[in-house]
Amino acid sequence: VSDMLVDSFGRAHTYLRISLSERCNLRCQYCMPADGVELTPSSELLSKDEIVRLTNLFVNYGVNKIRLTGGEPTIRRDIEDICLQLSEIKGLNTLAITTNGITLARKLPKLKKCGLTALNISLDTLIPAKFELMTRRKGHEKVIESINAAVALGYDPVKVNCVVMRGFNEDEICDFVELTREKPINVRFIEFMPFDGNVWNVKKLVPYSEMIDRVVKKYSDLKRLKDHPTDTAKNFQVEGHCGTVSFITSMTEHFCGSCNRLRLLADGNLKVCLFGSAEVSLRDPMRNGADDSELMEIIGRAVKRKKAAHAGMFDIAKTTNRPMIRIGG
Ligand code: GTP
Ligand code: 5AD
Ligand code: SF4
Repeated sequence: VSDMLVDSFGRAHTYLRISLSERCNLRCQYCMPADGVELTPSSELLSKDEIVRLTNLFVNYGVNKIRLTGGEPTIRRDIEDICLQLSEIKGLNTLAITTNGITLARKLPKLKKCGLTALNISLDTLIPAKFELMTRRKGHEKVIESINAAVALGYDPVKVNCVVMRGFNEDEICDFVELTREKPINVRFIEFMPFDGNVWNVKKLVPYSEMIDRVVKKYSDLKRLKDHPTDTAKNFQVEGHCGTVSFITSMTEHFCGSCNRLRLLADGNLKVCLFGSAEVSLRDPMRNGADDSELMEIIGRAVKRKKAAHAGMFDIAKTTNRPMIRIGG
């Protein structure tokens, strides 16, 4: 990886998350503010060609993994073309997506043909009525269908992201673990994080320590697996289960020391950390005719300004940021 993508703490940024849209077909409470968000006019969003150009640049300088996010990435009409063109970039090992799975079952065979290599699907409850409460929309059975379609198409593992919120779904943790018994599913329990407009409150945070207690009470043979050094998740497996169980502990045990992630937002801003407001536009210089080396200068300077870590959880809750829907996780 080029020095341009190494920050002042020695972290090499080889993983770029690209948000394809600020819109979503769900309205999850932890992500979308109750009164919605003001949408960026579409002329100010990156076009497919701009995304491909910037991705080529990042991959040239050492990025080897791309994740498409949103909003909901699959509602973008040119998603298949985007996947196809990105997957053809030499030097890229992983082209992944994080999706809510609402329209995925239908689109997945084509997306797979277009080079999509990994899939993370969000699902926070196994109970349809609770799904409607959380997402303010219907569609629980469609998400389940998408998870099954992904397994059937050979994605292994299929990651299922479950944000755990007190009073909502902490009683379902063991039911989610059951999904790993027969299928190559990696269930990932995620600590609830604060973003603008999501009314985060420490009482709604179910800490990692409590989540794992709940799992171990029922599955005493839960064993720790080796984690990849830049993984967001701590990984486990119930003895004899086909799939695995993980915890993403952003709030109680952050993993900033091994961070390898940058974010390209739908409006063309580069965001060097999930938290805080440090952003720089790549769209504007690009539209004003900047060449690749000029763009790379801007990217390199932003990377060098990245902080060691986000501060404690109460500080994060007070920091200005975007609503999650406009970041993509
Ligand atoms: P893999 O590439 O499969 O490991 O997925 P991922 O964990 O990188 O991405 P995903 O979109 O599935 O996100 C899962 C959870 O991790 C979400 O809650 C994200 O907001 C959170 N997450 C992703 N990247 C970061 C990060 O850089 N910092 C923190 N604190 N959380 C992150
Ligand atoms: N806290 C933790 N995870 C979140 N996600 C969305 N909002 C939050 C939040 N407030 C998750 C989504 C998706 C991933 C990109 O981030 O469920 O799986
Ligand atoms: Fe990286 Fe920021 Fe996430 Fe920490 S909070 S892991 S520094 S993106």
